[in-house]
Amino acid sequence: MATLAVRDLTAGYRELDIVHGVSLHVEPGEIVTIIGPNGAGKSTLLRSIFGLVPPRRGAVTFMGEDVTGERPDRLVRKGMCFVPQNCNVFPRLTVEENLEMGAFVPPSEARVRMAAVYELFPPLKEKRRTPAGVLSGGQQQMVAIGRALMMDPKLLLLDEPTAGLSPAYQRLILEKVVEINAADVPILMIEQNAKAALAISHRGYVLTMGRNRLDGRTADLLSDPEVGQLFLGG
Ligand SMILES: Nc1ncnc2c1ncn2[C@@H]1O[C@H](COP(=O)(O)OP(=O)(O)O)[C@@H](O)[C@H]1O
Ligand SMILES: [Mg+2]
Repeated sequence: MATLAVRDLTAGYRELDIVHGVSLHVEPGEIVTIIGPNGAGKSTLLRSIFGLVPPRRGAVTFMGEDVTGERPDRLVRKGMCFVPQNCNVFPRLTVEENLEMGAFVPPSEARVRMAAVYELFPPLKEKRRTPAGVLSGGQQQMVAIGRALMMDPKLLLLDEPTAGLSPAYQRLILEKVVEINAADVPILMIEQNAKAALAISHRGYVLTMGRNRLDGRTADLLSDPEVGQLFLGG
């Protein structure tokens, strides 16, 4: 059974459709990356999967259950967790308070989860009493991902987790994505950093103008001339 299956999804804002009949799937254990030009509708697609933008047509199935248009808080409880690209931490709350905000679980379980997050991101443990807003961009991204991990997700949705970070933090965050996935968490992420992201992924999708353009194993995408020209710098 697929972890996530999106079939013919159409979504947009007001009278305008942005995502036009997109289909994709994520299998257990996979890292799947969506690439595509700015404005292609990648974020709208992810928000629509997560119930933040109502789907107009199509279906979203999560671990065999139809969750089309279901509310984000209900999806989180079912194990689908989303890390948006921007404004993904509460800046005035401490690191630890941010993590606590992610846990709709009993306190004893939250402590176990928090210890796991600190093990994955040691700098967060040191800064646990620091307001998240004063951390570097890379460390804020750790907080945002850490908060999602507090729910022990069955699927993690990441919108451009390396955007705006230094090259060193970009590498680190992608390494952590691999580490999270190795602990049996399937991941669907959007990335501008196409080459590095595809290199750590099992499969990828290319989205242009709100539509499926190409998809396949990452090795095939990385050697595809069209993908190379559009996204990988020739
Ligand atoms: N909240 C919104 N209201 C109206 N239009 C939006 C909104 N968010 C995004 N858009 C439009 O949807 C299109 C796709 O945006 P987006 O999904 O963010 O693309 P991507 O993530 O691929 O860069 C863009 O034309 C953008 O201007
Ligand atoms: Mg986007």
